[in-house]
Amino acid sequence: LVRCIDWDRGAVRLIDQTLLPGRAEWLRVSTVDELVLAVRRLAVRGAPALGAAGAFGVALAGYASGRSADPAGDLAAAAEALRAARPTAVNLGRGVDRALHRARAALDPADWAAAARAALAEAQAIVAEEASNCRAIGERGADLLLARLGRRPLRLLTHCNTGWLACIEWGTALGVVRTLHGRGLVRRVYADETRPLLQGARLTAYELAEMGVEYRVLADSAAAFLLARGEVDAVLVGADRIAANGDVANKIGTYPLALAAHRAGTPFVVAAPESTVDTATPTGADIPIEYRDPAEVAAHVPAENPAFDVTPTDLVTAIVTERRTLEGTAP
Ligand code: MRU
Repeated sequence: LVRCIDWDRGAVRLIDQTLLPGRAEWLRVSTVDELVLAVRRLAVRGAPALGAAGAFGVALAGYASGRSADPAGDLAAAAEALRAARPTAVNLGRGVDRALHRARAALDPADWAAAARAALAEAQAIVAEEASNCRAIGERGADLLLARLGRRPLRLLTHCNTGWLACIEWGTALGVVRTLHGRGLVRRVYADETRPLLQGARLTAYELAEMGVEYRVLADSAAAFLLARGEVDAVLVGADRIAANGDVANKIGTYPLALAAHRAGTPFVVAAPESTVDTATPTGADIPIEYRDPAEVAAHVPAENPAFDVTPTDLVTAIVTERRTLEGTAP
């Protein structure tokens, strides 16, 4: 299977998601500065993929600083820059921290590359873990929906992109779609276009077409209408950070979907790995929300561009991870 990000002969290899679906261009990123830029401009994006990117970044820093006078200081500075590239998805900081921890423990004046090799091994472990997590999330999420809705082809609605492009392999919310499609149980997927950067219209549409799933792209503002008309059996989304109380930060536009699903009595299911659950963040109000360049929303006029919103836990029907299904209070 193709992975959206991996290590390739001394560099990070990633598909430039800003050019999809028009062009599938693979980038070789060999410095931390370039990687930070790739993360900021969303060439690589999606919570699990960002975790891998952060860890690979520490490996790049290790190889670059191995012969410097202060390799530990260089590693710490690189880790800080990577962590700060995007604030909301907890996976990014987690990936950085995991690789940094391993690199520090392996620092060896007699072997300049030991720290880098340790960070790289950790990054590769994250890639393998997230790939297997997604398979488990797919099965668990599919079983949950069929148990609630009955074994029939489902009409699903999703937001942003949560497939292999966001999750390295398979996907979380879109991984559940992939698993259900494998069982012949997807009737149609509505993909919100996901303003302002169109991760839905560009990336999710690309993945659904690749899978051979029947799909329709929707203006974000059309979703509530379809839900109210009973044309959607379940809403399935991913997450960038899940707070200890079950509040969910995800791409801007997710909260209004949850409100509309609640009103319509339609299940609203969040699919995410345990690596996105952040028990150190008590509630959604404590999740740092990224504000991006207003020009992404509108040129030449004042604009506001929060990249994520928070869905309160009482609007969530269930959170599905690779290990557990947390049933919420919503129908
Ligand atoms: O700004 P993005 O494209 O990185 O936002 C991504 C999302 O909001 C995804 O839904 C989330 O990361 C889950 S990806 C499995």
